[in-house]
Amino acid sequence: MTPAPPRPELPEAGEAAPIQPRVRRAWYIACTSAELGQDVLKTEIFAQPIVLFRGGDGAPGALLDRCPHRSVPLSLGRVVDGQLACGYHGWRFEGDGRCAHVPAFLGTPDAPGRRCLAFPTREQQGFVWIWADPGSPPVGEPFFFRLMDDSRYQVITRVLHAEGSVHAVAENALDVPHTAFLHGGLFRVDAARNQIRCVVTRRHDRVECAYIGEPRPEGLVGRILSPSGGVVTHSDRFLLPGIAEVEYQIGDENHILVDAALTPERDHRTRLTAVVAVRTRMPLWLIRPFAEPAALRIFGQDQRVLAAQTDNLRRFGEAGFASTELDALGPHILRLMRQAERGELEDPDAAPYQREFSMRV
Ligand code: FES
Ligand SMILES: [Fe+2]
Repeated sequence: MTPAPPRPELPEAGEAAPIQPRVRRAWYIACTSAELGQDVLKTEIFAQPIVLFRGGDGAPGALLDRCPHRSVPLSLGRVVDGQLACGYHGWRFEGDGRCAHVPAFLGTPDAPGRRCLAFPTREQQGFVWIWADPGSPPVGEPFFFRLMDDSRYQVITRVLHAEGSVHAVAENALDVPHTAFLHGGLFRVDAARNQIRCVVTRRHDRVECAYIGEPRPEGLVGRILSPSGGVVTHSDRFLLPGIAEVEYQIGDENHILVDAALTPERDHRTRLTAVVAVRTRMPLWLIRPFAEPAALRIFGQDQRVLAAQTDNLRRFGEAGFASTELDALGPHILRLMRQAERGELEDPDAAPYQREFSMRV
């Protein structure tokens, strides 16, 4: 008698505890420079409400959106002479959190208990970055978009949102196998499959997968990118704390670098700031009317699947992921994020981890 196959266990459903790692000691994009005008702007990082405003010198200030006086959200207030004035009793705060003014009060306004929690900020390349751990001094500087200021490249920037953790969104952005299914026809075609070699390399703060021997992608996007074909060099990489980078070189003249800077607004809600740098033999105005709607349609499909995945992760937790080697980066991304969360990155000088496998795309 053949033994009965093991009975699959029904996972527990309910509100599963999020196991999304929270890498707090890091810089994240809060908004674009253009979004932060003269008004106050509300945002969230790790579900902490944050209010942004420009101080007297124009530099961005970022405060916990909670007035130390009576807890009213400071984002209900307004900027007065470069200070953020609470909308309730008019207490005013500097970008570093100091209390600068208490209306009608004759004493010194600033005192330790009257200060706001302030997040360090940086403004560079048209983005406002926040150091997400106000309790610790910043280490290092924000990510630099390396081709953004290169005059040979045309650059498109877009801000999008996804109902998914930084890990889920990064894995999705860098995941090759889903493209033929979820985006079938638009990106890669399931029927036209070629065997390619994949090399995964992980260092202390990043993991990359290089795809070797990939032909020009079939489907609409591929035809737009490179009508004449050509050799494709393709790498996907993740850099801590939340940069997903896709790089394509097609032939000699086409180079595309897509950077998605991911901000954890909540455990399962991610702000995605995309910076796409393109150098191609075709002018961008010619490609854009086709490529942009296609890219947005692809992202819409990803958004829907991420939201549905998040729904189930909330119910069942993330412990039950089954993987093959084709899940080239996701497990490594999770590992890096966990190490960063604990502040235990591997030795930067150690030999990188490397593994090779083949797949059909
Ligand atoms: S609650 Fe903000 S000034 Fe009173
Ligand atoms: Fe996708």
